[in-house]
Amino acid sequence: MAAGVRASEPRVLVCLGALLARWVAAGLEAVVIGEVHENITLRCGNILGPRGLITWYRNDSEPVFLLSSNSSLPPAQPRFSLVNASSLHMEALSLQDEGNYTCWEVLNETRWFQVWLQVARGPYQVEVNISSTGRLPNGTLYAAKGSQVDFCCSSSSWPPPMVEWWFRAPDSSTEPFGNNLTASCFKLFLMSQNLQGNYSCLATNMLGGRHRKVTTELLVYSPPPSAPQCWAELSPGLFTLQLSCRWAGGYPDPDLLWTEEPGGVVMGTSKLGVEMLNQPQLLDGKKFKCVGSHIVGPELGASCVVQIRSPSLLSEPMKTCFVGGNVTLTCEVSGAYPPAKILWLSNLTQPEVIIQPSSHHLITQSGQSSTLTIRNCSQDLDEGYYVCRAENPVGVREVDIWLSVKEPVNIGGIVGTIVSLLLLGLAIISGLLLYYSPVFCWKGKGFPERQDMGDVMVLVDSEEEEVEEEEDAAEEEEEEASERDESPKEVTKYGHIHRVTALVNGNVDRMANGLQALQDDSSEQQSDIIQEEDRPV
Ligand SMILES: *[C@@H]1O[C@H](CO)[C@@H](O)[C@H](O)[C@H]1NC(C)=O
Ligand SMILES: *[C@@H]1O[C@H](CO)[C@@H](O)[C@H](O)[C@H]1NC(C)=O
Ligand SMILES: *[C@@H]1O[C@H](CO)[C@@H](O)[C@H](O)[C@H]1NC(C)=O
Ligand SMILES: *[C@@H]1O[C@H](CO)[C@@H](O)[C@H](O)[C@H]1NC(C)=O
Ligand SMILES: *[C@@H]1O[C@H](CO)[C@@H](O)[C@H](O)[C@H]1NC(C)=O
Ligand SMILES: *[C@@H]1O[C@H](CO)[C@@H](O)[C@H](O)[C@H]1NC(C)=O
Ligand SMILES: *[C@@H]1O[C@H](CO)[C@@H](O)[C@H](O)[C@H]1NC(C)=O
Ligand SMILES: *[C@@H]1O[C@H](CO)[C@@H](O)[C@H](O)[C@H]1NC(C)=O
Ligand SMILES: *[C@@H]1O[C@H](CO)[C@@H](O)[C@H](O)[C@H]1NC(C)=O
Ligand SMILES: *[C@@H]1O[C@H](CO)[C@@H](O)[C@H](O)[C@H]1NC(C)=O
Ligand SMILES: *[C@@H]1O[C@H](CO)[C@@H](O)[C@H](O)[C@H]1NC(C)=O
Ligand SMILES: *[C@@H]1O[C@H](CO)[C@@H](O)[C@H](O)[C@H]1NC(C)=O
Repeated sequence: MAAGVRASEPRVLVCLGALLARWVAAGLEAVVIGEVHENITLRCGNILGPRGLITWYRNDSEPVFLLSSNSSLPPAQPRFSLVNASSLHMEALSLQDEGNYTCWEVLNETRWFQVWLQVARGPYQVEVNISSTGRLPNGTLYAAKGSQVDFCCSSSSWPPPMVEWWFRAPDSSTEPFGNNLTASCFKLFLMSQNLQGNYSCLATNMLGGRHRKVTTELLVYSPPPSAPQCWAELSPGLFTLQLSCRWAGGYPDPDLLWTEEPGGVVMGTSKLGVEMLNQPQLLDGKKFKCVGSHIVGPELGASCVVQIRSPSLLSEPMKTCFVGGNVTLTCEVSGAYPPAKILWLSNLTQPEVIIQPSSHHLITQSGQSSTLTIRNCSQDLDEGYYVCRAENPVGVREVDIWLSVKEPVNIGGIVGTIVSLLLLGLAIISGLLLYYSPVFCWKGKGFPERQDMGDVMVLVDSEEEEVEEEEDAAEEEEEEASERDESPKEVTKYGHIHRVTALVNGNVDRMANGLQALQDDSSEQQSDIIQEEDRPV
């Protein structure tokens, strides 16, 4: 409201001045504007040529003598002097000098002129208060995106100044901020990126024309909208691990600090968020933490953690392939971080060679699971150990897979054998029945039942054995023999059951060989797989 009054006053004066200027031309009245501390000269009319006796008065409630061209009359104050025998020169103006002055001239007739002296002061300073903002070390102000910012500008002058705010965004022209030139305070409720720029407050003394401007740069900062992300990867070129941390979307870029956990040993701080790991830091299970801090972000920052882990392998310890057939070996990597590189090697020859994909060897990888398909198996070329190797910078793991290649099973032969054995058994039983009299047979309560069943069991047992032996021919020979030697009792009573146990044990033995690289807890799971795999087809 006060500002409104201020604005109207200078306008009135300017209009009046313009009006009076014409009267000056007519030799009547004039308006002169001076400034505090400066000198001013008031002319006595617009007359050229000889002047009469001139006396200057100041008109307040009563006229006060100031100066006369009669040299015997001294001026009222030393700062008043006469210029060109008619004009009043005043030094070091003050606001009190504002008023109407009259020049009285006596020639062959008397005439007088009136001058209205107006005195302006300032503005010398502009006070700008922008809140609530932060201040960077170099003095620049910043506000958080979305926050409210109050702008206030004040300046003192006489008469009171007109205060304007101007805004200039980077690479654009200056624009007045609103049309209300009288308002010296305003609020911006939701700061946004396009409100970043230079804010200028301009204070103008409409009377004296003096103006002062203060320009303040205001940056609008915003924290990244989501959580930071971190990961480890092989650094290109070098065989070392590189930690990367990304916390995007903020302005300006946040600072990213990597520490070793636990302990919080600082590895480095940067805007890039990339740190290289040295060999001693590549420990299985070791954690690294990235803490992002942003000037307008959360006070404690935001963080993410990376745990590096060496690979673990899961695979069948043995596989069988029929001559001319196809077989697929699978190898699954778990727990590896960063993801492991999976290679297939064969140690059929020495040294081990990396298997390259070919029409014979088909290698496919999906995620952290790799399969090796061997087509058209041949006993000479393909039987033996295969190695699945998984490696990342944290560790290398290998698992061996034994591949046995067999002649295809002659199903007709097996069926024939089973049938002939059944017939043989039937013949023996009928022979026995015929040999003993039927009476004896029916009266034979003491006939040992178990022994009878045992016989049947043996028959079934031997069939299965044959099938199994054909299946696992080579590798079982020596183990089977040793197992039987070790536990002869079980062989006699529970031959069938024992046989199965022997097979499982045999596989477990083989597994101990093949599972060296596997984790302990996976061995049980492994034995299950083996039993299934070795079942006759
Ligand atoms: C005013 O006049 C005096 C004397 O002539 C001079 O010394 C002084 O510098 C002048 N001041 C200004 C502001 O011009
Ligand atoms: C100023 O004083 C002179 C001389 O006394 C007088 O004639 C004139 O009317 C006065 N002017 C005003 C505006 O009071
Ligand atoms: C100048 O002033 C003196 C003293 O007041 C006076 O005697 C004298 O007549 C004046 N001169 C003129 C020309 O008025
Ligand atoms: C005084 O007279 C000279 C010459 O006539 C002129 O150039 C100058 O502007 C005058 N000064 C004032 C203050 O009127
Ligand atoms: C000077 O005179 C004008 C009229 O001529 C008047 O409007 C104005 O208020 C006067 N100024 C002062 C300070 O008395
Ligand atoms: C004033 O006197 C001068 C001569 O001294 C004369 O030329 C002039 O006309 C006179 N002016 C008036 C208005 O009487
Ligand atoms: C700026 O303005 C705020 C409120 O708008 C006030 O709390 C603060 O004291 C002011 N600062 C100055 C230096 O005037
Ligand atoms: C102050 O620092 C900020 C951020 O570094 C920069 O954007 C701004 O231009 C600097 N201001 C000045 C005046 O140097
Ligand atoms: C200018 O601002 C003043 C003070 O805030 C207010 O009273 C006035 O209504 C505003 N004028 C316009 C045209 O917005
Ligand atoms: C603000 O003004 C300064 C000085 O003119 C300039 O260097 C800076 O780039 C400006 N800042 C913006 C955001 O326009
Ligand atoms: C082995 O795989 C190849 C290619 O997938 C196929 O053409 C062929 O029939 C397969 N052989 C057997 C015995 O399944
Ligand atoms: C093949 O691997 C097995 C199991 O690790 C190992 O015992 C054997 O020595 C290796 N053979 C060759 C030729 O490297």
